[in-house]
Amino acid sequence: MSNSEAILKIKDLKVYFDTDAGVVKSVDGVDLEIKKGTTLGLVGESGCGKSVTCLSIPRLIESPPGRIAGGEIIYKGKNLLELSEKDMQGIRGNDISMIFQEPMTSLNPVFTIGDQIQEVIMLHQHKTSAEARELTLRILKKVGIPSPEIRIDDYPHQMSGGMKQRVIIAMALSCSPDLLIADEPTTALDVTIQVQILDLMRSLQDELGMSILLVTHDLGVVASMASHVAIMYASKIVEYGPVEQIFSNPGHPYTLGLFTSIPVVGRGKRDLYVIPGNVPDPLAFPRGCKFWPRCVFAEDICRSQEPFLENIGEGHTAACHFRGKIDKHLWKEKTNTGSFLNISR
Ligand SMILES: Nc1ncnc2c1ncn2[C@@H]1O[C@H](COP(=O)(O)OP(=O)(O)OP(=O)(O)O)[C@@H](O)[C@H]1O
Ligand code: SF4
Ligand SMILES: [Mg+2]
Repeated sequence: MSNSEAILKIKDLKVYFDTDAGVVKSVDGVDLEIKKGTTLGLVGESGCGKSVTCLSIPRLIESPPGRIAGGEIIYKGKNLLELSEKDMQGIRGNDISMIFQEPMTSLNPVFTIGDQIQEVIMLHQHKTSAEARELTLRILKKVGIPSPEIRIDDYPHQMSGGMKQRVIIAMALSCSPDLLIADEPTTALDVTIQVQILDLMRSLQDELGMSILLVTHDLGVVASMASHVAIMYASKIVEYGPVEQIFSNPGHPYTLGLFTSIPVVGRGKRDLYVIPGNVPDPLAFPRGCKFWPRCVFAEDICRSQEPFLENIGEGHTAACHFRGKIDKHLWKEKTNTGSFLNISR
């Protein structure tokens, strides 16, 4: 597989939950692509469908109430949605690993961290327990745990938050996955530890050549980690493309809103923009463009017709009736805020 080839292609994915109140369409026609050895950042406000997208890749959506209502998840040329549960078990852990959004609940308090990593290794690889322990020590060292031969017998409560997060990463990497899905892997950590963990993920990526799907609220993290970014809003991708292009020339008002709402050094309070309103309830999405009630550019067409992703540059797509026409001058005029870009890579 060459570097420019996609390791994962998600096509028109639909993930619905059947609830007493109705069908919650959490993911509704999502297309995504991750090239081998690269990182795709997935960004959007709370509730827009990021975790549901992630969980559906290794087929971990609980059913019922959830169901994959349509689409394809092509991993190395195979549609994961067509594989048997037995084949999927082989892929989970061996090929595709996941760091869950609530990482601290991923460790079992009654077992040592060494036992937990060894169990994952023994489950997915044909290793004896002595071999698995040896491999565990090597991985703990790789993720920067000091004195691994001592810490391997620690229980989770004996470790700091940053160390536990390294253990979770060690567990996710224990089978050298080709694709790592990391759902907000550093959100719970303080800034210094965040930087260390991200550096660690980057260097392991270089070493192992793995691809990463990285969910984050933090556009600064996207800028430092990802080659491509997908902006998700109300169950759909509304903008997608290379990080440089999206950061220098965002094509969707929601993306502009996200950029302008970040407090960054050098940006005064007057320049901060708060996107008005909230993410709509998936049981009551507005007609037309789902962003129109919050969009400063909304016109009649937005309230009646839903826009679809269309090209606005090389590999850069946006779903807005006025895609590509909305520029920073107009943005400043409409929102009364200053420059919208101030994040450096
Ligand atoms: N088991 C479930 N039953 C019903 N609705 C669900 C279920 N799981 C998720 N949802 C709904 O799907 C939508 C998307 O949820 P998801 O967890 O993917 O959001 P998210 O983008 O990851 O948000 P956050 O940034 O808060 O993690 C939400 O409206 C959520 O309420
Ligand atoms: S289609 Fe209309 S409402 Fe939707 S983002 Fe574009 S301008 Fe705003
Ligand atoms: Mg989530």
